[in-house]
Amino acid sequence: MNIDFLLQQRLVCVAVIDRPDDAVPLAQALLAGGLNCIEVTFRTAGAAEAIARIRKARPDAIVGAGTLLTADHVNKAVAAGAQFGVSPGLSEAVSRAAHDAKLPLFPGVITPSEIMRALDLGWQHLKFFPAEAFGGVNALKALAGPFGHTGVKFIPTGGITAANLPNYLALPQVAAVGGSWMAEKKLIAEKNWPKITALTAEAMKVIAAAKA
Ligand code: 3PG
Repeated sequence: MNIDFLLQQRLVCVAVIDRPDDAVPLAQALLAGGLNCIEVTFRTAGAAEAIARIRKARPDAIVGAGTLLTADHVNKAVAAGAQFGVSPGLSEAVSRAAHDAKLPLFPGVITPSEIMRALDLGWQHLKFFPAEAFGGVNALKALAGPFGHTGVKFIPTGGITAANLPNYLALPQVAAVGGSWMAEKKLIAEKNWPKITALTAEAMKVIAAAKA
Protein backbone atom coordinates (compact mmCIF):
# COMPACT_ATOMS: atom_id res chain seq x y z
CA MET A 1 0.00 0.00 0.00
CA ASN A 2 1.16 3.55 -0.39
CA ILE A 3 1.83 5.68 2.63
CA ASP A 4 -0.33 8.70 1.84
CA PHE A 5 -2.28 7.94 5.02
CA LEU A 6 0.76 8.91 7.03
CA LEU A 7 1.20 12.22 5.30
CA GLN A 8 -2.49 12.99 5.76
CA GLN A 9 -2.77 12.05 9.44
CA ARG A 10 0.74 13.16 10.45
CA LEU A 11 0.43 11.13 13.65
CA VAL A 12 1.03 7.50 14.53
CA CYS A 13 -0.07 6.16 17.91
CA VAL A 14 2.59 3.78 19.23
CA ALA A 15 0.79 1.20 21.35
CA VAL A 16 1.97 -1.60 23.60
CA ILE A 17 -0.96 -3.99 23.90
CA ASP A 18 -0.59 -6.67 26.56
CA ARG A 19 -4.03 -8.22 26.11
CA PRO A 20 -5.43 -8.74 22.60
CA ASP A 21 -8.87 -8.08 24.10
CA ASP A 22 -7.82 -4.44 24.51
CA ALA A 23 -6.88 -4.04 20.83
CA VAL A 24 -10.28 -3.19 19.31
CA PRO A 25 -11.45 -0.92 22.15
CA LEU A 26 -8.14 0.93 21.88
CA ALA A 27 -8.51 1.36 18.12
CA GLN A 28 -12.07 2.57 18.68
CA ALA A 29 -10.89 5.11 21.27
CA LEU A 30 -8.28 6.46 18.85
CA LEU A 31 -10.74 6.58 15.95
CA ALA A 32 -13.24 8.40 18.17
CA GLY A 33 -10.54 11.01 18.78
CA GLY A 34 -9.98 11.41 15.04
CA LEU A 35 -6.86 9.26 14.55
CA ASN A 36 -6.90 6.24 12.26
CA CYS A 37 -3.24 5.27 12.38
CA ILE A 38 -1.96 2.86 15.01
CA GLU A 39 1.36 1.06 15.39
CA VAL A 40 1.09 -2.11 17.46
CA THR A 41 4.52 -2.90 18.86
CA PHE A 42 5.96 -6.42 18.73
CA ARG A 43 6.92 -6.21 22.40
CA THR A 44 4.13 -8.40 23.64
CA ALA A 45 3.14 -11.96 22.85
CA GLY A 46 -0.27 -10.81 21.66
CA ALA A 47 0.91 -8.18 19.15
CA ALA A 48 0.10 -10.15 15.99
CA GLU A 49 -3.29 -11.16 17.37
CA ALA A 50 -4.01 -7.52 18.26
CA ILE A 51 -3.21 -6.40 14.71
CA ALA A 52 -5.42 -9.09 13.21
CA ARG A 53 -8.33 -8.20 15.48
CA ILE A 54 -8.16 -4.47 14.70
CA ARG A 55 -7.91 -5.14 10.96
CA LYS A 56 -11.01 -7.32 11.11
CA ALA A 57 -13.11 -5.10 13.37
CA ARG A 58 -12.10 -1.69 12.03
CA PRO A 59 -11.19 -1.71 8.34
CA ASP A 60 -11.17 2.10 8.56
CA ALA A 61 -8.01 1.97 10.72
CA ILE A 62 -4.51 1.82 9.26
CA VAL A 63 -2.63 -0.70 11.38
CA GLY A 64 1.12 -1.10 11.43
CA ALA A 65 3.52 -3.30 13.32
CA GLY A 66 6.25 -1.68 15.39
CA THR A 67 9.41 -2.82 17.14
CA LEU A 68 10.23 -5.13 14.21
CA LEU A 69 13.62 -6.47 15.24
CA THR A 70 13.86 -9.56 13.03
CA ALA A 71 12.72 -10.91 9.66
CA ASP A 72 10.49 -13.29 11.60
CA HIS A 73 8.70 -10.30 13.16
CA VAL A 74 8.13 -8.85 9.69
CA ASN A 75 6.67 -12.11 8.41
CA LYS A 76 4.39 -12.48 11.44
CA ALA A 77 3.28 -8.85 11.10
CA VAL A 78 2.44 -9.31 7.42
CA ALA A 79 0.56 -12.54 8.13
CA ALA A 80 -1.49 -10.67 10.76
CA GLY A 81 -2.42 -8.00 8.22
CA ALA A 82 -0.04 -5.18 9.13
CA GLN A 83 -0.15 -2.39 6.55
CA PHE A 84 3.18 -0.83 7.46
CA GLY A 85 6.18 -1.69 9.59
CA VAL A 86 8.35 0.28 11.97
CA SER A 87 11.70 -0.65 13.45
CA PRO A 88 13.67 1.16 16.15
CA GLY A 89 16.84 0.71 14.08
CA LEU A 90 18.18 -0.18 10.68
CA SER A 91 18.56 -3.91 10.10
CA GLU A 92 19.37 -5.40 6.71
CA ALA A 93 17.43 -8.55 7.56
CA VAL A 94 14.32 -6.56 8.50
CA SER A 95 14.75 -4.37 5.42
CA ARG A 96 15.03 -7.39 3.10
CA ALA A 97 12.01 -9.11 4.63
CA ALA A 98 9.94 -5.94 4.28
CA HIS A 99 10.96 -5.46 0.65
CA ASP A 100 10.17 -9.14 -0.07
CA ALA A 101 6.74 -8.75 1.52
CA LYS A 102 6.16 -5.34 -0.13
CA LEU A 103 5.56 -3.94 3.36
CA PRO A 104 6.25 -0.19 3.64
CA LEU A 105 8.90 0.10 6.36
CA PHE A 106 9.98 3.04 8.48
CA PRO A 107 13.38 1.98 9.81
CA GLY A 108 14.90 3.84 12.74
CA VAL A 109 17.84 6.18 12.27
CA ILE A 110 19.67 8.90 14.12
CA THR A 111 23.02 9.51 12.45
CA PRO A 112 23.96 10.71 8.94
CA SER A 113 25.58 7.32 8.24
CA GLU A 114 22.38 5.50 9.21
CA ILE A 115 20.34 7.80 6.99
CA MET A 116 22.68 7.10 4.06
CA ARG A 117 22.41 3.37 4.68
CA ALA A 118 18.61 3.56 4.85
CA LEU A 119 18.52 5.46 1.54
CA ASP A 120 20.82 2.81 0.02
CA LEU A 121 18.39 0.13 1.19
CA GLY A 122 15.53 1.91 -0.56
CA TRP A 123 13.73 3.63 2.33
CA GLN A 124 12.84 7.32 2.31
CA HIS A 125 10.54 7.69 5.32
CA LEU A 126 12.61 7.07 8.41
CA LYS A 127 11.74 6.88 12.09
CA PHE A 128 13.97 9.36 13.95
CA PHE A 129 14.32 7.59 17.28
CA PRO A 130 14.71 8.35 20.14
CA ALA A 131 14.02 11.88 18.97
CA GLU A 132 14.10 13.95 22.15
CA ALA A 133 17.10 12.12 23.61
CA PHE A 134 19.12 12.66 20.42
CA GLY A 135 18.70 16.34 19.76
CA GLY A 136 15.05 16.55 18.71
CA VAL A 137 14.10 19.50 16.53
CA ASN A 138 17.64 20.92 16.46
CA ALA A 139 19.10 17.66 15.21
CA LEU A 140 16.44 17.40 12.49
CA LYS A 141 17.18 20.98 11.40
CA ALA A 142 20.88 20.18 11.12
CA LEU A 143 20.20 16.98 9.15
CA ALA A 144 18.14 18.97 6.62
CA GLY A 145 21.41 20.52 5.38
CA PRO A 146 22.97 17.48 3.73
CA PHE A 147 19.76 15.49 3.29
CA GLY A 148 17.09 18.09 2.43
CA HIS A 149 17.49 17.62 -1.33
CA THR A 150 17.33 13.79 -1.11
CA GLY A 151 13.62 13.76 -0.34
CA VAL A 152 14.19 11.87 2.91
CA LYS A 153 11.40 12.45 5.43
CA PHE A 154 11.39 11.73 9.13
CA ILE A 155 8.92 10.36 11.65
CA PRO A 156 10.34 11.56 14.95
CA THR A 157 9.34 9.37 17.87
CA GLY A 158 10.45 9.12 21.47
CA GLY A 159 9.64 11.76 24.06
CA ILE A 160 7.06 13.60 21.97
CA THR A 161 3.97 15.03 23.65
CA ALA A 162 1.16 17.44 22.76
CA ALA A 163 3.42 20.22 24.11
CA ASN A 164 6.40 19.75 21.77
CA LEU A 165 4.41 18.30 18.86
CA PRO A 166 3.96 21.68 17.07
CA ASN A 167 7.73 22.22 16.94
CA TYR A 168 8.19 18.95 15.05
CA LEU A 169 5.21 19.42 12.73
CA ALA A 170 6.57 22.80 11.67
CA LEU A 171 9.62 21.17 10.04
CA PRO A 172 9.18 20.41 6.31
CA GLN A 173 11.38 17.32 6.66
CA VAL A 174 8.93 15.81 9.19
CA ALA A 175 6.31 13.65 7.47
CA ALA A 176 4.58 12.59 10.66
CA VAL A 177 5.20 12.15 14.37
CA GLY A 178 4.92 9.00 16.46
CA GLY A 179 4.23 8.63 20.13
CA SER A 180 2.55 6.77 22.92
CA TRP A 181 1.44 9.74 24.98
CA MET A 182 -2.23 9.50 23.97
CA ALA A 183 -2.37 5.78 24.77
CA GLU A 184 0.18 5.03 27.46
CA LYS A 185 0.37 1.48 28.79
CA LYS A 186 -1.21 2.59 32.05
CA LEU A 187 -4.25 4.07 30.29
CA ILE A 188 -4.69 0.87 28.28
CA ALA A 189 -4.32 -1.29 31.42
CA GLU A 190 -6.99 0.83 33.13
CA LYS A 191 -9.17 0.61 29.99
CA ASN A 192 -9.46 4.37 30.21
CA TRP A 193 -10.82 4.71 26.67
CA PRO A 194 -12.45 8.14 27.26
CA LYS A 195 -9.10 9.60 28.36
CA ILE A 196 -7.37 8.09 25.31
CA THR A 197 -10.03 9.60 23.06
CA ALA A 198 -9.62 13.00 24.76
CA LEU A 199 -5.81 12.98 24.46
CA THR A 200 -6.09 11.90 20.82
CA ALA A 201 -8.58 14.64 20.03
CA GLU A 202 -6.22 17.16 21.66
CA ALA A 203 -3.34 15.92 19.49
CA MET A 204 -5.48 16.06 16.34
CA LYS A 205 -6.35 19.68 17.16
CA VAL A 206 -2.63 20.51 17.26
CA ILE A 207 -2.22 18.77 13.90
CA ALA A 208 -5.13 20.66 12.38
CA ALA A 209 -3.60 23.93 13.60
CA ALA A 210 -0.23 22.98 12.07
CA LYS A 211 -1.91 22.33 8.70
CA ALA A 212 -3.83 25.62 8.75
C1 3PG B 1 8.66 3.65 20.96
O1 3PG B 1 8.94 2.94 20.00
O2 3PG B 1 8.73 3.31 22.15
C2 3PG B 1 8.21 4.99 20.62
O3 3PG B 1 9.26 5.73 20.21
C3 3PG B 1 7.40 5.64 21.68
O4 3PG B 1 8.09 6.62 22.33
P1 3PG B 1 7.30 7.43 23.45
O5 3PG B 1 6.75 6.42 24.40
O6 3PG B 1 8.32 8.33 24.07
O7 3PG B 1 6.22 8.20 22.74
